[in-house]
Amino acid sequence: MGVKGPAARSCITQIQPYQPGKPVAEVERELGIRQAVKLASNENVFGPSPRVRTALRKAVNQVHIYPDGACYYLRAALARDLGCRPDELILGNGSNELLVLLGMVYLNAGDEVLSSQMSFVVYSMVADLLGAKFIAPPMRDFTYDLETMAGFITSKTKLIFIANPNNPTGTLIEKQALRRFIDRVPTHCLVVLDEAYYEYVQRPLAGNTLDWVRERNNLVVLRTFSKAFALAGLRVGYGMAPAKVRENIERVRDPFNVNSLAQVAALAALADKAYMRKCVAYTQTERKRLSKELLKLGLKVIPSQTNFLFVKFPRTEGVQVGQSLLQQGIIVRPFPGSYVRITMGKIAENNKMLKAIKNIL
Ligand SMILES: Cc1ncc(COP(=O)(O)O)c(C=O)c1O
Repeated sequence: MGVKGPAARSCITQIQPYQPGKPVAEVERELGIRQAVKLASNENVFGPSPRVRTALRKAVNQVHIYPDGACYYLRAALARDLGCRPDELILGNGSNELLVLLGMVYLNAGDEVLSSQMSFVVYSMVADLLGAKFIAPPMRDFTYDLETMAGFITSKTKLIFIANPNNPTGTLIEKQALRRFIDRVPTHCLVVLDEAYYEYVQRPLAGNTLDWVRERNNLVVLRTFSKAFALAGLRVGYGMAPAKVRENIERVRDPFNVNSLAQVAALAALADKAYMRKCVAYTQTERKRLSKELLKLGLKVIPSQTNFLFVKFPRTEGVQVGQSLLQQGIIVRPFPGSYVRITMGKIAENNKMLKAIKNIL
């Protein structure tokens, strides 16, 4: 009654909460429709591997016990898979948590975070959370303009976030160019190379970035089980980081940041990489087909190395396109400037999406 509660930190009140893609059930309820198709959150439409499902059913009986805070078995399996030592890895409640933890460790108010316009939205949120300044020069051809970015590095730059491939544009930075940029970054800046979509990259294009981590003290590479491994709902991300970075993350992380079901599921998913590869192969084929179909409709399709396409519509704002598709039961992610991001679904879902787009054009 007129009494104000405690004031939040001033930088917090500036933050726009993250807007997740609308869940299917919500769209169906609101529009009174059935069989809505969600192509908005870059999930793996096939769901987890059968081995993951079996492992989870067993693990459910153990949820009264705290998880293994060190993720011993998952860490060991990842290390074997990646060819590194278990202690070289960091694990988190999704790679999203690792992005936030890196912000907590490195950002003082007034520091600068460098990334790009049209990069992953969480990067600017991390800067805002810690009262740091987010510096985002424009992209060139929907890709990080590394030359221009290098010119924005100052004595205040602490973190440089690069998603490769990028979300939402889907583009990949060429290996040599990326390497040249990282070599130029001064040692007071930490480069965070976010490879959430790594598995979807056509093989010869993917770089050996984990090797680069060992060569310097200012590079972290992050990956996730949320996309190709289909575990978005369980939240497991991981990365390789230099010793100092790992020690600092240990200081700030929740002692049980990766839950027990997530650990079991990720372990089972790693043991069934054939399933993951099948999902990726499907996605790569479907990526080609859909790109062609959308181009035929006269839309601009940005070449993608991910499980989604960034598409430009003529004259219509992305939000409007999103609304029109929503009315037809297709959930996509709109972006400013006539763009929408469309995650690849199953063939029938994608065909439904193509039909809905034809209707609005
Ligand atoms: C580029 C990028 N990085 C990180 C994430 C976060 O992934 P998660 O927290 O599910 O591991 C996403 C999710 O969409 C992403 O697109």
